[in-house]
Amino acid sequence: MHLCAGVILMLAPCLVASLDKQKVLGNLHKMASLPCPEQCSSELIWTRFQNQRDVLVRCNGGSCWSKDGFDLPDEQYLKGNSSLTMLKADYSLRGLYMAKCGSETICEVVFTLSPQVMSREITPGEPIDVYLPLTDRVEVSFTASDAAQPSDLQICTVDNEKIQIISPDYKERASRINILQIKAGNVSDSGNYTVRDVTNEETLAIVKVHMREEKPCPDCKQDRAMPAWGITLIVVLVILLIVAGLVIGYLWKEIQQLRGESADRHQMTENANQHQQHGMNGMNGRNPEDVEISEDTALSNHQH
Ligand SMILES: *[C@@H]1O[C@H](CO)[C@@H](O)[C@H](O)[C@H]1NC(C)=O
Ligand SMILES: *[C@@H]1O[C@H](CO)[C@@H](O)[C@H](O)[C@H]1NC(C)=O
Ligand SMILES: *[C@@H]1O[C@H](CO)[C@@H](O)[C@H](O)[C@H]1NC(C)=O
Repeated sequence: MHLCAGVILMLAPCLVASLDKQKVLGNLHKMASLPCPEQCSSELIWTRFQNQRDVLVRCNGGSCWSKDGFDLPDEQYLKGNSSLTMLKADYSLRGLYMAKCGSETICEVVFTLSPQVMSREITPGEPIDVYLPLTDRVEVSFTASDAAQPSDLQICTVDNEKIQIISPDYKERASRINILQIKAGNVSDSGNYTVRDVTNEETLAIVKVHMREEKPCPDCKQDRAMPAWGITLIVVLVILLIVAGLVIGYLWKEIQQLRGESADRHQMTENANQHQQHGMNGMNGRNPEDVEISEDTALSNHQH
């Protein structure tokens, strides 16, 4: 509208200014519709304000032609809907679009992309990467989560290859490789990093950074390291206890069994001794060394 100010107020494009410019927010790489609900019974032409000789869509006599990346289906046009479809939105497609029916401008639409909002969790000491969707005349500013810090602190501007650091606090820490990297993140760096397009006065991206709090006491590290090996140790101990329990249980059973058997053997030995006492003098059945022999004898005695 400011283009039309003053002397040139009477020129044709200025009349257009009376049209309500509709603002459309698209999403990067997504389809977007530039609305124009007007019916056009003569030739309909969509162009961009910045290059009106570059026709995006032309509808005439019931059918439409469209440039790559744009669409206006014939049926939609015949139904009296002159809306233009942008197939894949990107930053280069931002700007003012106009639809002309014959010589009359029927619609004006300002197309922009909604800001990309990202969240990052950063450990103190790690660098903070601020993604720059564009590097053509953008500005990065910072608003700390901590309300005590000044808000909207301008960090730098980027103009293609040139980066100009404005805040002296960032002279040593900021550098650019299609991201703005701020080295050695600190708790006080928590907050919103906003990337603005200076030319179009638009917000391109907001990077919300949350720094993980680190406890200052040196013992905390050990406390936190503890569970890792502590849990392993506990698991190993529990397994050892279970194994030991099983072994003890098994041995106990064995011992009980042996005791039972030796009691039996004892019984048999005594029986055998009673038989043998007649033939063998001085043989002591209670001597453990004799149990084996006595048993054999006892068994053979039973077999007979
Ligand atoms: C006009 O067409 C566009 C694109 O196909 C569609 O999104 C919109 O809803 C249509 N408007 C009406 C009023 O039918
Ligand atoms: C950061 O941005 C979000 C929106 O994306 C907003 O809700 C929040 O209040 C902002 N925080 C600060 C500290 O400005
Ligand atoms: C982190 O920030 C605080 C406050 O801004 C400052 O006092 C401290 O020295 C900083 N720490 C490091 C490691 O830079």
